[in-house]
Amino acid sequence: MTDRSGSFDLLAKRISEALKGAEDRDVKLKTVCRLLKDAVPYYNWVGFYVVDEKRRNELVLGPFEGEHTEHTRIPFGRGICGQAVQLERIFVVQDVSKEKNYLSCSTNVKSEIVVPVFKGKKVIGELDIDSHALSPFTKQDEAFLRKVSEMVSRIL
Ligand code: SME
Repeated sequence: MTDRSGSFDLLAKRISEALKGAEDRDVKLKTVCRLLKDAVPYYNWVGFYVVDEKRRNELVLGPFEGEHTEHTRIPFGRGICGQAVQLERIFVVQDVSKEKNYLSCSTNVKSEIVVPVFKGKKVIGELDIDSHALSPFTKQDEAFLRKVSEMVSRIL
């Protein structure tokens, strides 16, 4: 297994710096997406979904980097994103062809990781990453992306 802990530490520092800027929330979130997508070869689509304040049972697509997606609103329970928000836990799907409750964005996507963003005990959004590789995500990715989601929680 490739040890990415050093590069993830460096990337976490760059993300932390980007989040300190004076820009609007969405500009910062877009920067986080770009930093992640550019630095990690198997992060091919990186985006944020935010829980809709008015319709509390739906996610709305926020800033993202990668191909456009038709899934701009996702009801709780639908797809990997909807399951992650409903069950309030990380979802690591190493092979999307084996996941029945899955919303496809592109046939290039082979795997996906969805990390909830918590404010206290409540999920307020999530970080979603699609990969064109099969089984690319390790425990290091999980730990690193949990850290990113904690950092983002302060501005979401
Ligand atoms: N595949 C996701 C839908 C969102 S896209 O990956 C951008 C899902 O199953 O929830």
